Amino acid sequence: MADMTVAYSPSHGLGEEQSIWFKLTPLLNQENPMQVLMALSDKYNGVIPINLKNQRIVLLSEPAHAERVLVSNADNYTKYFDGLRPIFGNSMITIDGALWQKIRTPQQAAFHPNMFEEYFPYLMSAIDSKMARWAKFASTGETIEMVEETWTLAAEMVCKALFDREMPFNPHFVFQQVKTYTDVMNHKSIRLKNQRGELVEMTGEDTAKAMEVWHSIPDTVMGANILEHREKTLLKMLEAAEADQNFPEFDHRQVIDEMKQYLWAGTETTALTLAWSLYLLSQHPEAMERIRAEARTVCGDADPEWNQVQQLAYTRMVIQETMRLFPPIWALIRIAAGDDDIQGHKVKAGDKVVILSYIAHHSPKYWDDPEKFDPERFAPERAKKRVKYSYLPFAAGKRACIGGALSQIENTLALVQLLRRFTPEYTGPVPAKIHATVTLCPKGGLPFRIRALS
Ligand code: HEM
Repeated sequence: MADMTVAYSPSHGLGEEQSIWFKLTPLLNQENPMQVLMALSDKYNGVIPINLKNQRIVLLSEPAHAERVLVSNADNYTKYFDGLRPIFGNSMITIDGALWQKIRTPQQAAFHPNMFEEYFPYLMSAIDSKMARWAKFASTGETIEMVEETWTLAAEMVCKALFDREMPFNPHFVFQQVKTYTDVMNHKSIRLKNQRGELVEMTGEDTAKAMEVWHSIPDTVMGANILEHREKTLLKMLEAAEADQNFPEFDHRQVIDEMKQYLWAGTETTALTLAWSLYLLSQHPEAMERIRAEARTVCGDADPEWNQVQQLAYTRMVIQETMRLFPPIWALIRIAAGDDDIQGHKVKAGDKVVILSYIAHHSPKYWDDPEKFDPERFAPERAKKRVKYSYLPFAAGKRACIGGALSQIENTLALVQLLRRFTPEYTGPVPAKIHATVTLCPKGGLPFRIRALS
């Protein structure tokens, strides 16, 4: 049975002076953090070196930099997860080298496109629950927080489709706990409190409690109602790896950590994409109408069938354009194992390297009128002309996202179904501001009211 103790020190890495997130705080804690980074990147030709005491960090924003670090010399760069271990444990997203390959291999099949048809009814069922909830919001007219809404949806999709379970926890509560860690702006205030001897607030009980809750979720999911006893699910693959006598590294702790990874990496990113896309669509009603028209042409009045999903091309382009403007993972961090030369910039072993996807996505060198919402950029003919590695929502190379294709199906179905029944009306300030945590979040959330279509 599972070991229920929290193996990590509750404040492990949180707010550590050495944490790169802590070091970036002054840059990010701005009214418009991405604008600041873009201006710096412009000034220094895409390479921003930051030297702090004995540490060297370099922020890079050119596609050629991404190619070097993520693809052609990827073996020279290891993952950086300081301060976030309590969220991810030692799951594959954090591991490097031969062990990473070994851990990833038994899970790969769950993300092969030929599995998506099996997931389809469970994705639709999660969307149905969301629609029932929104029908209530439409009748009360209350204001809702969109990221919370889409995060619940994404978590339910992962539980149902990949784990064959009902979602047995309250995601609003659980994800709030996780945010203690991934909201890196907190790290500074936690550290300052530490320095002032005011340990009580976060580094003591609350953080420990937050992580205890988080750590208990995988077992809660495993113990929840099994939906259909399907044979080919991600959870079954994890359990088979655990049972494999020849694979001692894949123990129960590994299963728990992998599940935690999916419940975060596979949910917040997808949820932010959907929430930002609804924000953009609320500012571009013509695009919202086009999604509805596409759905009518492809599916008539009926729910989409699995074999129609590929035909929802405009909807998919809206999602791709959303991830360009608001990449959920806006920075990819690595540590150099050995010296390197990245387009003339010398990197030494031990240096931290940060690929700023956000900047590549907003560069006028690679995109016409980059701040404009223009889903048609992703039409096949125009997409062909794109400079390679100028678009990195899922990173690139062998450590690219395992769930990217699945997330696009999830969000395509969600947009089509939700917009055919509702008009979500954004009620916050325009433009919405960014709050740079490990993910690219809206500052203060994205408030909406839901209107039902007659
Ligand atoms: C819009 C949705 C998503 C975005 C933008 C996204 C983005 C990313 C990015 C940028 C990485 C690489 C991180 C790095 O190199 O440091 C990554 C890795 C990963 N993602 Fe996603 N992701 C999304 C959805 C998903 C989904 C739906 C799942 C699974 C259910 C998932 C599971 C993972 C895993 C397991 C890794 C680590 C892969 C490895 O290291 O081998 N992601 N994701």
